[in-house]
Amino acid sequence: MRLNKYIAHSGVASRRKADELVEKGLVKINGVTASTGMDVGPGDVVEVDGKIIEPEKKLVYYMLNKPVGYITTASDEQGRPTVLDLMPEVEERIYPVGRLDYMTSGLLIMTNDGDLAYKLMHPSKKVFKTYVAEVGGLLTIHEARRLSAGVKIQGRMTAPAKVEILSQSDSSSRVMISISEGRNRQVRRMFEAVGHRVIRLERISIANLKLGHLKEGRYRKMSQNEIDYLKRL
Ligand code: URA
Repeated sequence: MRLNKYIAHSGVASRRKADELVEKGLVKINGVTASTGMDVGPGDVVEVDGKIIEPEKKLVYYMLNKPVGYITTASDEQGRPTVLDLMPEVEERIYPVGRLDYMTSGLLIMTNDGDLAYKLMHPSKKVFKTYVAEVGGLLTIHEARRLSAGVKIQGRMTAPAKVEILSQSDSSSRVMISISEGRNRQVRRMFEAVGHRVIRLERISIANLKLGHLKEGRYRKMSQNEIDYLKRL
C-alpha cells in the first residue's frame, strides 16, 4: 500500500497531509526516514513523529451540526472549544472533512476515513458545498450574477458558483450559495468582493448530503446509504 494511503487509513492525517509529513522528514519506515511515493508492505513498521501507527480497522462516519464558537482543528492555542468537545462519546480518532470558520455553523462530516476526506476536499472533484448567508445590505441580481460568474479574491478568480437570493431588504439579504472550492474564508471573501459583509453563515449541504433537522451542537452516525453516496461522488 502507498505510504500516504497507509497513513490516511491510520486516521493520523489526510493523504495530502501525509505527503507533507513525509516531505518534512517526520515519517519513518522500519526506522529509516521515508520519502514520498514509497510503499508499505506486510510487516513494515511505520512511525509518524516518533509514534508507531497502524491502519484503523473500523472506519466511522458522523455528521455534526457545528454551532458558532467552535473551531474545527483538534486543538487551539487560545484554548477555544473544538468540535471534538461536542463528541466525547466517539472513541475513534476522528477529524473534520474540511474546515468551517469559528463563526460559521452547520454541516460538518467527521470521520477517520482519510481517503474519503481527501476526495471530498480536493478541488478537482468539484464537490459543491452549499451555504446560506445573511449579508448586510441589499444584494442585487447584478451582484449575485457576479458572484456566480466568479470574483477575484486573494488575487485569483473563484470558480463558477450557484447563487440564489432567498430574501432581500435594504438592511440585509439572505442568499444561498454553492461553491466547489474550499479556499480560506471563501464565502465571506466572495461577498466582501461585491461589497457585502457576511453577518451569519451556515453550511446546509455537501453535494446532496443535507444537514436536515439535526439540531445545533448535535451529531449522528451517517447511514450506509449516505456513506455509499459520498464514496461514489
Ligand atoms: N466560507 C467561509 O467564508 N467560511 C466558512 O466557514 C466556510 C466557507
